Amino acid sequence: GERLDFRASKQRLLVVANRLPVSAVRHGEDSWQLEMSVGGLVTALLGVKEFDTRWIGWAGVNVPDEIGQKALAKALDEKLMQRCIPVFLDEEVVHQYYNGYCNNILWPLFHYIGLPQEDRLATTRSFQSQFDAYKKANQLFADVVNEHYEEGDVVWCHDYHLMFLPKCLKERNSKMKVGWFLHTPFPSSEIHRMLPSRLELLRSVLAADLVGFHTYDYARHFVSACTRILGLEGTPEGVEDQGKLTRIAAFPVGIDSERFIKALELPEVQDHMKVLKQRFAGRKVMLGVDRLDMIKGIPQKILAFEKFLEENPNWRNKVVLLQIAVPTRTDVPEYQKLTSQVHEIVGRINGRFGSLTAVPIHHLDRSLDFHELCALYAVTDVALVTSLRDGMNLVSYEYVACQESKKGVLILSEFAGAAQSLGAGAILVNPWNVTEVASSIGYALNMPADEREKRHHHNFKHVISHTAQEWAATFVSELNVTIVEAQLRTRQ
Ligand code: ADP
Ligand code: G6P
Repeated sequence: GERLDFRASKQRLLVVANRLPVSAVRHGEDSWQLEMSVGGLVTALLGVKEFDTRWIGWAGVNVPDEIGQKALAKALDEKLMQRCIPVFLDEEVVHQYYNGYCNNILWPLFHYIGLPQEDRLATTRSFQSQFDAYKKANQLFADVVNEHYEEGDVVWCHDYHLMFLPKCLKERNSKMKVGWFLHTPFPSSEIHRMLPSRLELLRSVLAADLVGFHTYDYARHFVSACTRILGLEGTPEGVEDQGKLTRIAAFPVGIDSERFIKALELPEVQDHMKVLKQRFAGRKVMLGVDRLDMIKGIPQKILAFEKFLEENPNWRNKVVLLQIAVPTRTDVPEYQKLTSQVHEIVGRINGRFGSLTAVPIHHLDRSLDFHELCALYAVTDVALVTSLRDGMNLVSYEYVACQESKKGVLILSEFAGAAQSLGAGAILVNPWNVTEVASSIGYALNMPADEREKRHHHNFKHVISHTAQEWAATFVSELNVTIVEAQLRTRQ
C-alpha cells in the first residue's frame, strides 16, 4: 500500500472525523490488519499536506480491553500512521451511534431520503437511545481531542457523525479554535425540521467558530434552518446568537489531482491499462465507481443502461458497463437490501442481453487498489455518476484527472455538489429520469472528438486548480481570521 505523508509545518491541525484513513480489521485475538478506508472524506483529507496534522478517529473495530487498545494504537503507529489517534467505541455504542443515528437517520435525511419507516413508527425511546449514544460517542471523541490538544491548535471537526462535538469541545475549553465541515448536503430547512433532535444539533454546531459546506446552497439551507427553527438572526457572515457570531461559508472540496496524474506514469498502472485495453478491445467502456449506497442511484443507473440497450440494438455487442461498487455500512439493513436489489437487476439484464462470450454489465462488489482504479479511470470512454444526492462526489473529479489523453465524457447527476463546478463540461442528468439518462448515454458514446475535448478541458482546468490542499488551507485560514476578528470585536 501507499505510505501517508504528513509534512510538518507551523500550524498544528487536529482533524477529527469518525473515519481514520485506515480501518482495522480483526485477524485473530490481538492482531489486526489495517486497510485503507474508502470514501470522499478520507480521499479529501489525505490530500491535505501543508499542516502538522494529527487525525483522530474511530478505529473501525471493537477492542474491549486496554492491552488490545494499546496494541492497536501501536500498530497504527508502526504503519507510519503515527499521526493517527484511535478512538475506541464499544459495540453497543457503534450499533446505536454509527449504524443507528448516523447512517440510519442523519445520512438518509440529509440526502432527502427521509426518516426510515421503522423509526417513524417506533417508540421515541428507540430514537432517543440512538441520539443518546450519538452524544455519548461525541463526548468520547472530545475526550481524545482534549488529551492531545495544545494551545494554538486548530481543531477541525468533520461530518454528520460529529455535529455534537463543537459544543462538547467549547464547553471544555472556550478558547479552542473549532471548525466544523459537513461532507454531505445540508438539506432544506423543511427536511431538517423533521428531526426530533433538530434544535440540539443546530445549537451544538453553532458552538463552532466556523461552519463550512461544499456549496453555497447547503450553507444557505443551514442558515435558514437556524433562522426558521431556532429563530436566530442570519447575517451575510453567518448566524448571530446573543452577540456571538458563527461564521458560515462554502468551501468546495477538491482532490489531490497531481497524485492521480503522476500515478498514470507508473509501470504498474500502465500494465493494468494494457490488460484492460486488451480485455475490452472493440468495445466502448462505461464506468461507475461508487460505495454501494442508496444515494448513488446505482439501480437507476443500471436501468438507464438497460433502456439504452433496449433502444439501440446496434450497440448491444459494442458497449460494456463496469460498475465497481464497494460494500459499505453492511450492518445497516437498508444497505443489505440494496445489495440484493442491485444483484438482481444486473443478473436480469445480463441474462437478457448477454451472449455465450460477453455480458453487458460487469458488476464487482469490492474496492480496487489505487493503481487499478487509476488505470480504469484512464482507459474508459464514459463515466456515469448518477447520485440521487451527493455532497460533492469526488469520483467525478478523479475520472477527469485521469482523462487527459482520452478525453472521455462525464455524465453527472445534477444532484451532486460537483454539478456546480463541472456543470459546463459534463452532461448533466436527472438520475430519476431513466429516459433522459439513456439518451445521454447515446449522446456521450457518439460525441465527436472536438466536443469531448472542449468539455474535458473545462473540467480538467477546474480539477487541477481546486485541490484538497487549497480547500483545507482556505478553511484553516478563514478560521484563524474569524477568531482574530471576534477578538477585535470583543475588545471594541
Ligand atoms: P462518498 O464520499 O460518498 O463515498 P465520493 O465520490 O466523494 O463519494 O468519494 C468516494 C471515494 O472513494 C473516492 O475517492 C473513490 O476513489 C473511492 N472509492 C469509491 N468506490 C471505490 C471502489 N470500489 N474502489 C476503490 N475506491 C473507491
Ligand atoms: C461519506 C461520508 C464520510 C464517510 C464515507 C464512507 O463520504 O461523508 O464521512 O467516511 O462516506 O463511509 P463510512 O461509513 O464507511 O465511513
